[in-house]
Amino acid sequence: MTQDEMKKAAGWAALDYVTPGTIVGVGTGSTVNHFIDALGSIKDQIKGAVSSSEASSARLQALEIPVFDLNDIRELAVYVDGADEIDASMAMIKGGGAALTREKIVAAVADRFVCIVDGSKTVDVLGTFPLPVEVIPMAREYVARELTKLGGKPVYREGVVTDNGNHILDVHGLKIADPKALETRINAIVGVVTSGLFAHRGADVLLIGSPAGVVRQGV
Ligand code: A5P
Repeated sequence: MTQDEMKKAAGWAALDYVTPGTIVGVGTGSTVNHFIDALGSIKDQIKGAVSSSEASSARLQALEIPVFDLNDIRELAVYVDGADEIDASMAMIKGGGAALTREKIVAAVADRFVCIVDGSKTVDVLGTFPLPVEVIPMAREYVARELTKLGGKPVYREGVVTDNGNHILDVHGLKIADPKALETRINAIVGVVTSGLFAHRGADVLLIGSPAGVVRQGV
């Protein structure tokens, strides 16, 4: 089974968490692309989606799934998204696709976060995957110096501008023993828009695609 087949299995399994007649929160990335395809197969049974990126919105619209503005939504039962790393407490590193800020916003609104991954994304300690941090462009070098003081090696993701017009620093070399504490610390640096640590709002359900089938954790 290829890695993409494992992503696809997890993406389609997430349909089990979609309630007919509702609006669905949709993340970003190659695993979520499979979930969007799965949503397309039941598009007549859902009201539509709230999207976390321009890329996911385009894919949803290509399948004629209505995309709603989050400001027009009062309730969101479920948000489905991938992760770059996820630990046993369901804290995650996200943002490999630079969509972390909108992902964190939609996740905050949702009652339930369903994380879909292939087996390569589960880790004991977060930090092998460089931690993405979205920054206001004029603050980039200042934030990089502050992140260095925390023990990381920030690298500017050159050529990437987020959907919000900001820059990304990828922080290498962190061994994240306390994800919630580090998320709080990075959020406090002036000029940081969002860190890719999803610890205060981690996942509720984890679906791991594997050769033996989809392994489900959480509720
Ligand atoms: C997008 O910014 C990310 O948070 C993605 O959710 C994450 O990078 C997982 O992407 P893949 O599903 O492509 O591995």
